[in-house]
Amino acid sequence: MTSSTHKQEQPRIVLGVAGGIAAYKAVEVLRRLRDAGCFVSPILTPDATRFVGEVTFSALASEPARTKLYGDPTTPIPHTYLGQNADLIVVAPATAHVIARYAMGLSDDLLTATLLASRAPVLLCPAMHTEMWEQPSVQENLATLRRRGVMILEPEEGPLAGGDSGKGRLPDPEVIASLALDIVHGRSGGLLRGHRVVVSAGGTREAIDPVRVITNRSSGKQGYAIAEVAARLGAEVTLVSTASLTLAPDVARSIAVVAVSSAAEMAEAVLREASTADIVIMAAAVADFTVAPTTHKIKKDDGIPSIALVPTQDILLTLGAQKRPGQIVVGFAAETDDVLANAQAKLLRKNCDFLVANDVSADGVGFDHATNEVVILSVGAEPYSVEMTSKEQVAFELLSKVAERIHGGTHG
Ligand code: CTP
Repeated sequence: MTSSTHKQEQPRIVLGVAGGIAAYKAVEVLRRLRDAGCFVSPILTPDATRFVGEVTFSALASEPARTKLYGDPTTPIPHTYLGQNADLIVVAPATAHVIARYAMGLSDDLLTATLLASRAPVLLCPAMHTEMWEQPSVQENLATLRRRGVMILEPEEGPLAGGDSGKGRLPDPEVIASLALDIVHGRSGGLLRGHRVVVSAGGTREAIDPVRVITNRSSGKQGYAIAEVAARLGAEVTLVSTASLTLAPDVARSIAVVAVSSAAEMAEAVLREASTADIVIMAAAVADFTVAPTTHKIKKDDGIPSIALVPTQDILLTLGAQKRPGQIVVGFAAETDDVLANAQAKLLRKNCDFLVANDVSADGVGFDHATNEVVILSVGAEPYSVEMTSKEQVAFELLSKVAERIHGGTHG
């Protein structure tokens, strides 16, 4: 996806480049953003200029690259000028040092000062050696920034500088540029503007008695990421959730949250909200069985109890059966065996427009991880694989496919 069908003003992007070998890839990110019609202002840290010259960025950018907080010929206060006018700040590559300084709130160079002087969304693209990436200090700084609403595009596994290999490689410029474009178009044009999206998230809790519950390992992270990205793309979003995670500050006010606990409560809320929705996404792990209710706490002295299970309503199946013309229904399938075959069958049986399948037995996939690896299935299209990446990126990929379907393929 590269652009929305809406007419919009030229998005303004600050491209921060820190001192790492992947700085050369930032040149290609810059070129792609310019080709897509963005006004791009590069900021290079002093160390970045050791890897790629300032002239290269200046030649391709909308205005000369900046490297210093002081002595700018165009404005006496470049950090506030850049920060206040940006629709998005992208930092690629983001080194461990820049990440630490940003997390600490330091502002001793133009890049960190601009990050502090801005209310624009921020997309950080870390790149470094695996040992550095895995350091608790780096991960804690990233967790702090994530909590504050900063979007982090996780590095990939692959060859690194010096002949090493592992996690830490900057994703391809194409991936970074298309993510950045999704974000700015979400703010200015909105691929999903005018559309109402209902997302379910988290694992349901089925009461055994007034004290005990049966639940599952779903954290709700993927559903929250979908709700946040849909809001950034301009949709009106309702999140029906059993989890109470913190929503990213830039979109928290534009997402209505309906708190539920059991499968029955989730069914009631989702089906009610879905009656006026254009897109319904069932990311929740809904219990297939619930417990015949007991109002009294089961006592140990009564002996080992037998718990009778009864089936719950299949919400996704109901949504698929009741689908209005033009309404899009998306299901998830957590599988451990024959992932594709099981998911294809589920797509058809539940009459979904899209089904997101993941192999939850694989490392780093599904329940409670920050990352995911999925295949997006839809009727009449080839399966679309999304390699191991952040749950935000999975959300972007899914919502791009949904937007494409809605707009009839009028954007790429
Ligand atoms: N789902 C639902 N209502 C249920 C159970 C599941 O809406 N009572 C939805 C989930 O939110 C998910 C999809 O159905 O989007 C797939 O759920 P899953 O449990 O993987 O599939 P099932 O059809 O229950 O099949 P099985 O568990 O046998 O694989």
